[in-house]
This record gives sequence, C-alpha cells and structure tokens, in this order.
Amino acid sequence: MTPKLIILMLAAFVSCSSLAADVTYTKDIEPIFKEWCGECHGAQSPDLETFKKNEKQFIKEKTGPRMSTYDELIAYIGWPDTGAVMRRLDDGKSVKDGKPGNMYRHLGSDETERQKNLATFKNWLGAGAWNLNRWTARGDVPAITKDQLDKLQLKY
Ligand code: HEC
Repeated sequence: MTPKLIILMLAAFVSCSSLAADVTYTKDIEPIFKEWCGECHGAQSPDLETFKKNEKQFIKEKTGPRMSTYDELIAYIGWPDTGAVMRRLDDGKSVKDGKPGNMYRHLGSDETERQKNLATFKNWLGAGAWNLNRWTARGDVPAITKDQLDKLQLKY
C-alpha cells in the first residue's frame, strides 16, 4: 500500500467516525438554522407566548416563534414544546401517514440538501432521540418517556 493510499483511507475513516458523535450546535446546527430558518424564527421573532397571543397575525406576516439561540431552540425539543422540532422537520418516515412535517420543506433547496440537513439534526439529537411524542399523550401517540428523553445529546 502506498503512503498516499493509507492517508486517504485514514482521512475517510476520520470523516465517517466524526459524523454522528461530533455534531454540535455552534458548528453544525446554528449555520443551518441561520440559513434556512432564521428569516422567520430569528432574533427578530416574538417569543412563543407572545406569538401564541397573536398567532394569526404573525403567520400572515410569515413570522414564527423565536428559536435563535441554543436555549430557545432546545425548548422546542425537550420541554415545554416537546418534540416540536422533530414533528415539524420530519420527512414523513417517522409517521404512519408518511406526511412530512410542515417545516421540512424549508430544510434545503432540494431533496438531497434537505436529507443532508435532516441527518445533521438527527445526529445532533443523538441515536434513538428522534421521537415525535409530546409531553402528554395525544390520540394514539403516547407521551414521551424518560428513556426517550435520556437519549438526547444536544451538544453545544
Ligand atoms: C417562511 C417562514 C418560515 C421558515 C423559513 C421556517 N419556519 Fe418554522 N414556522 C413558521 C411559522 C409562521 C410557524 C407557525 C405556524 C405553524 O405552526 O406552522 C412555524 C412553526 C414552527 C415550529 C413549531 C413551533 C411551535 O409553536 O411549536 C417549529 C418547531 C419550526 N417552525 C421550526 C422551523 C425550522 C427548524 C426551520 C428551518 C428548517 C423553520 N421552521 C423554517 C415560519 C417559518
């Protein structure tokens, strides 16, 4: 084996193994969020309670609730808006009717990019942490469990 080939193989190994484990908010999620979500969920957007009070008007103005920092965003993953990011960004593969969440289309300009960014979100949450359950049961979807919550990594 030539040294060049060995270096190439090593590089491939390193880039694969760093995929899931090293996804962080600052390095990976924040740039995706700024590019694809920030326009409607950025620092200029209202907090969730203010948004809810005037929801119709905000939606008309294409403004969603603010998720522009790490702390704000994880509130839509863990608590109080448990699973909101997962329900909205899912590509339809986690639900029975196969319907993607209504924010999935914002994840990129084509399907390849959307899938890539979705995978980054999933890896950021952690293996087995992509659960669409709410804090309380609704319909035939049970409430989130402590075991499911324990899987969240959400590295900063
Ligand atoms: C063009 C504007 C726009 C873009 C871009 C956008 N959103 Fe939204 N988003 C909204 C609006 C408006 C709502 C509120 C209406 C609704 O619930 O669908 C919303 C709702 C949400 C909710 C639910 C909040 C709740 O109350 O539970 C989540 C989570 C979310 N968006 C995440 C994202 C993510 C992540 C991205 C980027 C991939 C994104 N959105 C891109 C406008 C946008």
